[in-house]
Amino acid sequence: GKGGEFMNNPEVDFAIPENQKKMQEALDKIKADLGFTVPIVINGKRETGTVVERPDPSETAVVASKAHFASVAQAEQALAAASAAFPSWRDVSVKERADLLRRTAEQFEKRRFEISAWMVREVGKPWREADADVAEAIDFCNFYATEMERLSEPRKRNLPGEWNEYFYDARGPAVIIAPWNFPLAILCGMAVAAIVAGNPVILKPSEQACRVGYFLQEALEAAGCPAGVSNFLPGDGEQIGPTLVNDPRVAVIAFTGSKAVGLSIIRSASEVRPGQREIKRVIAELGGKNAIIVDEDADLDEAVAGALASVAGFAGQKCSACSRIIVVGDAYEPFCHRLGEAMASLIVGNAADPATNVPPVVDADSQARIERYIEIGKQEGKLVGQKAVPAELVGKGYYVAPSAFIDCPADGKLCQEEIFGPVVAILKAATLDEALAIADGTMYALTGGLYSRSPKNIERVRREFRVGNLYINRKITGAVVDRQPFGGARMSGVGSKAGGPDYLQQFLVPRTITESV
Ligand code: SER
Repeated sequence: GKGGEFMNNPEVDFAIPENQKKMQEALDKIKADLGFTVPIVINGKRETGTVVERPDPSETAVVASKAHFASVAQAEQALAAASAAFPSWRDVSVKERADLLRRTAEQFEKRRFEISAWMVREVGKPWREADADVAEAIDFCNFYATEMERLSEPRKRNLPGEWNEYFYDARGPAVIIAPWNFPLAILCGMAVAAIVAGNPVILKPSEQACRVGYFLQEALEAAGCPAGVSNFLPGDGEQIGPTLVNDPRVAVIAFTGSKAVGLSIIRSASEVRPGQREIKRVIAELGGKNAIIVDEDADLDEAVAGALASVAGFAGQKCSACSRIIVVGDAYEPFCHRLGEAMASLIVGNAADPATNVPPVVDADSQARIERYIEIGKQEGKLVGQKAVPAELVGKGYYVAPSAFIDCPADGKLCQEEIFGPVVAILKAATLDEALAIADGTMYALTGGLYSRSPKNIERVRREFRVGNLYINRKITGAVVDRQPFGGARMSGVGSKAGGPDYLQQFLVPRTITESV
């Protein structure tokens, strides 16, 4: 790998038959490996623990993968390994650390279809989105490599008799706690940012996505990452999470997940424990209750298509997903009608089927929660669109019916709580003012969208719709590294944007040196 300019990795085009064939072959090939048991890796050594099975969400009778879940004692060993690796890793040159990331990206590229196929089976991610997840992981590696090289240029202010230098140093061992919905990209982004900054990591993949998470460990090792710099710790978050978060040797905790867990991590990390020498830095990317405003003059064909993709893509299991649509004035009736029709045409199916646009959700708890919200929607308002789960799939996997509601109160449960499923409330606003007030009326501020043809209204919404990522006349999911640095404000999280120019500084300590000469 070479340094220099960053370029986004292109997604695979599945309209090309050759690519379809490659993906189908990968899916066929991994059938023989289903039930693969993911190990624990501490200081370069494979370890065993309590084996836990992970069903394929599309057909729960099949075990997709198994993983050795680590004990508290093993979590302690991983912390010791990361901590011991810190002094030497910190002093490895930036060039070498950046090249490690570029070689890691090459490993992902080599195994691209295989990783995507596992993503399909382990978390029910459809083809296109699974491939986009791998592409994003590749981007994180190459982008943070280039960013670290940029930041390693020391800033000098030399005067007669006084030399000043400002530069970045590594921070310390980092605990990476990842979600299952971007099982490679988000784990990888948080991890390689820490590693390239000189910080050894403990990778805690999501319980539901250990096989996919293990591809990162494998790629790092194949790329030459030293033992102890990356420790891989599948396990039950409730069991080992507190050990990792509370340990006095930990300098950084990068977490992506729910608001409840994020806030509890922030609370625990703020407590100083015996032997602790520094204040922990917590980076927490949390939830959203994202809205799209549809202006009175919007192109409704575009608005319906973009809103539906934002609501139902990956069954709404993205923190960026849309769960409220606010329609201005006379556009309301036709929009509701068309969205209802479009929703009924969605294809709910097995994630392995390339025709599927709404796969099952991740597990039985998610399915039950989403079904509860569908009942709440019926009580608070009225169903205007739904695609029933095909009869032959009922009971076979964690399928839920994509559903749209109207007449739900803006301050009610359906319009305020993060559902994390393909459920949306459509709200009516008399004016753009009212639409903006409704849009802003939650504790979250992650993504938002606007469909409008009025330059004046677009200008106003750009200024006043204060979310982390605002999208105009397009869907509100699928942020791309470097082009759309991603992350929210308010209760949507704390820390700077992933895939953006301020991200790496969070893993670094700036130092100033002045020499009198
Ligand atoms: N970055 C993802 C998106 O933009 C969400 O994590 O959809």
